[in-house]
Amino acid sequence: MPHTPDPENSQPLRALRSGPLKGVAQVPGDKSISQRALILGAMATGETVISGLLESGDVHSTAGALRGFGATLTQTGPGNWRVQGLGVGNWRAPAAPLDFGNSGTGSRLVMGAMATTPISATFVGDASLMSRPMARVVAPLEAFGVTYEGQGEKALMPLTLHGAGDAPAISATVATASAQVKSALLLAALNARGTTHIYQKALTRDHSEKMLKAFGAKIHVTSCSEGGEAITIEGPVALHGCTVEVPRDPSSAAFAIVAALIVPGSQVTLPGILLNPRRTGLLETLREMKAHIDIKNRRHSGGEEIGDLVVHHSTLYGVTVPASRAPSMIDEYPILAVAAAFAHGRTSMHGLEELRVKESDRLAAIVAGLNANGVVTEVVGDDLTVIGMEQVPGGGTVATHMDHRIAMSFLTMGLASRKPVTVDDITMIATSFPEYQDLMRDLGAVMEAPQEDKQ
Ligand code: S3P
Repeated sequence: MPHTPDPENSQPLRALRSGPLKGVAQVPGDKSISQRALILGAMATGETVISGLLESGDVHSTAGALRGFGATLTQTGPGNWRVQGLGVGNWRAPAAPLDFGNSGTGSRLVMGAMATTPISATFVGDASLMSRPMARVVAPLEAFGVTYEGQGEKALMPLTLHGAGDAPAISATVATASAQVKSALLLAALNARGTTHIYQKALTRDHSEKMLKAFGAKIHVTSCSEGGEAITIEGPVALHGCTVEVPRDPSSAAFAIVAALIVPGSQVTLPGILLNPRRTGLLETLREMKAHIDIKNRRHSGGEEIGDLVVHHSTLYGVTVPASRAPSMIDEYPILAVAAAFAHGRTSMHGLEELRVKESDRLAAIVAGLNANGVVTEVVGDDLTVIGMEQVPGGGTVATHMDHRIAMSFLTMGLASRKPVTVDDITMIATSFPEYQDLMRDLGAVMEAPQEDKQ
């Protein structure tokens, strides 16, 4: 469902063709890992000490909700947090509805985390989140004995979830290629009786599995010969607070990476980026497009692989991106589509059905944004083809539909298109990447408030 920005509070911005981008881009902490660190910290006993936490709207919404369940979360400095958890199964019923703002991950993982505790909570969010399907999470949770009241078949928010006391372990196949759904089931299983078995065909991000292990959960992951993986997790279990170092977010890095690739003469270094193979589909695709990206100093931090990226302006070539790669780059299609607009030839991306249920209908938003800036696209079913151009015209205004990644992707386009690209609202960029504008300007990007006469 499209979301029209509120003219009172929206803030348009336009990006102009810029000179070479140069320098070091210190992107903030990974959103997925930040969310999980707070949630597991609130489920553990003892203290969890977090460094590098993403300080953004989505993460702060989750922190607020966890306080509503009775956990103590304290910011001790930028990115440094301490969480005093209550123990698995000990969350208390919140006194008021929990407002998750724009955060699908926060709300869905917390639904799982409270599902096997006999308390009720009501979940609300902004216009974007209130239009996203929650049935994909709460329907599978019913097997634990959970009941819920949401809006309509998709179980939209406002949604009230009634957790189950003395829940049995379950066996479930996660039908959607969603790490959020898988994670919600894993968190619910922590307080269920016995061994829960979860199978997922798609190899979605595995941060929950890794972090659960670090917090002391009894969890085992096995690759299946038919593809996908089977996870077993024991309950009830006690989690123990630990130390979490959050690596830098590859999904936020993606905007500076593509900007450096398409703006002639650029060279940008991005240190300490998360390189978990379940998140590197964009890097793989860009390299297939002949992008010059060096990965240096591969190392481990906080149980995850990280590395320093050096990105050089490159002549890009169109490629075909298989559907099987979608889970490892699910948030990166808007920025890949922008890179594809500057490539020689056609770039075809297959299996994009999950894009329709993100912060906006991203497939529709990508197509509309590209077309508004003179780029030709073809959509057949869930496949998108972008026809690359020697010179991307630009000059259009892009409807962001409260979607941070649409806003940042099309601002990136404006840095290399002939005419500026305007996005109708940038306020929601703060949900994932509040430093975005400053960071891009420091590299040499030119962005300004739109003035009618200059368009
Ligand atoms: C996330 C999973 C993905 C992704 C989202 C973060 C996570 O969503 O799009 O930004 O942290 O688990 P889905 O699980 O819906 O694919």
